[in-house]
Amino acid sequence: MTGATIWLTGLPSAGKTTIAYALAERLRAEGHRTEVLDGDEIREFLSAGLGFSREDRHTNVQRIGFVAGLLASHGVKVLVPVIAPYADSREAVRKRHAAASTPYLEVHVATPVEVCSERDVKGLYAKQAAGEISGLTGVDDPYEAPAAPDLRIESQHQSVDESATAVRALLAERGVL
Ligand SMILES: Nc1ncnc2c1ncn2[C@@H]1O[C@H](COP(=O)(O)OP(=O)(O)OP(=O)(O)O)[C@@H](O)[C@H]1O
Ligand SMILES: [Mg+2]
Repeated sequence: MTGATIWLTGLPSAGKTTIAYALAERLRAEGHRTEVLDGDEIREFLSAGLGFSREDRHTNVQRIGFVAGLLASHGVKVLVPVIAPYADSREAVRKRHAAASTPYLEVHVATPVEVCSERDVKGLYAKQAAGEISGLTGVDDPYEAPAAPDLRIESQHQSVDESATAVRALLAERGVL
């Protein structure tokens, strides 16, 4: 089986986790070995103790990229719904995959901040607006949108299923299915 890392980057509440799990369910049903490395779970264990400074966000992304690359090199489809706000952090992960000849695909879940802040799954946008937290990606912390992602998803214009289908089509097109 061909492994690959599929990174879903985007703002909080963009739909990264939702789309990743929807796709994972389908890939598993088709018999593909599939893992989801979700940002929240990772921060509880692998990245416990890291905060949200630029440096810590970078470290978090490198750790996740390292594990994803290992799994992918053993034939696993690794879906990574993690914000990864900095272009250079994502680029470093991409380069290490390239050096190991492991497929790496970048999907930008490009839901606009206005839509994300309405969804506000974790209440972060409301807390930021109320002055209870600061450093929220896309609001008062940077989000460097990918200039040339392998796929851009406008989740405000399509269903979760349609987005999962689009990512699956990308995998097929790149020969990793
Ligand atoms: N078309 C859509 N595509 C994706 N999600 C949608 C869509 N319409 C509504 N939603 C809802 O938007 C929310 C997206 O939340 P989700 O946890 O997936 O975001 P996230 O990008 O993982 O955010 P975070 O970075 O905070 O983890 C979910 O509650 C989902 O049901
Ligand atoms: Mg998420």
